[in-house]
Amino acid sequence: MSFHTVEQAPGRLNRSELAIPGSQPQMFEKAAKSDVDVIFLDLEDAVAPDEKDQARKNIIEALNDIDWGNKSMSVRINGLDTHYMYRDVVDVVEQTGERLDLIMVPKVGTAADVYAVDMLVTQIEDAKGYKKRIGFEHIIETALGMQNVSEIAAASKRNESLHFGVADYAASTRARTTIIGGVNPDYSVLTDPAADGSRDVHWGDMWHYALARMVVAARANGLRPIDGPFGDFQDKEGYKAAAKRAAVLGCEGKWAIHPSQIELANEVMSPSDAEITKAHRILEAMAEAEAAGKGAVSLDGRLIDYASIRQAEVLVEKAEQIAGN
Ligand code: GLV
Ligand code: MG
Repeated sequence: MSFHTVEQAPGRLNRSELAIPGSQPQMFEKAAKSDVDVIFLDLEDAVAPDEKDQARKNIIEALNDIDWGNKSMSVRINGLDTHYMYRDVVDVVEQTGERLDLIMVPKVGTAADVYAVDMLVTQIEDAKGYKKRIGFEHIIETALGMQNVSEIAAASKRNESLHFGVADYAASTRARTTIIGGVNPDYSVLTDPAADGSRDVHWGDMWHYALARMVVAARANGLRPIDGPFGDFQDKEGYKAAAKRAAVLGCEGKWAIHPSQIELANEVMSPSDAEITKAHRILEAMAEAEAAGKGAVSLDGRLIDYASIRQAEVLVEKAEQIAGN
């Protein structure tokens, strides 16, 4: 273990994160009653330019008036390259700072972007005398943001999570696709011909590198890596497969761009009963091994050692966090 200790962001449950356009206030009450862990009220890409002002007002009113229970509440502001962003931050933080938990910053490109938002938020919080500090969630969704992801992840004490914005990332890298998330038949491997000449096509995951890169930067800085949108909300199996791939890589949660995706994200991102039982058995077996003066033993025919303890503890900790929510 390095001598450098990685400080962890606040332990906020973030299995599912629901996107709600600020211009659709009729959706707010239903979202408040859902089982989602985090809601982000959107001022950015789901809101047309003519609706930005009204959406901002809707969000401020809703954060103050609606009972959102113990959900974490976030607002996605407009990008730093727009003229909406400063007013998003000033109006929303000045008028909802006591309830607002997080600000989601889209299209973050450099650590200086994070600094700029931090500076503005800090001034407002100090001027208003807020005790609570608002956290940051950054969407990594441009080639520049991915190139600078490590510096972005380390750029502020407010940073809590990194999100993979697959749609904008595809546009920014000029990936040849128009779908939001999911897989693409053109990203596949064709096997060599078998004896009878037949060949198999193995579909690959074109987002693997980007997501894995972001997970490393997030974890190295104690942040939660969160997978972004999956556009085809009719395709529940496709969503679950994408969420599972993200979870296996280390992501803690996934966006829901439709309420029907909340349950799927919560299910995939929660350790199963079988995983929790196995984790407890590993901890028990290792405790016995340690008492007997051994560092490694076998459980169900497989080797386990001190690294297995750390893996098991991650699962048990997550299960306790979910149970205590
Ligand atoms: C999210 O903002 C995305 O672009 O995928
Ligand atoms: Mg985007």
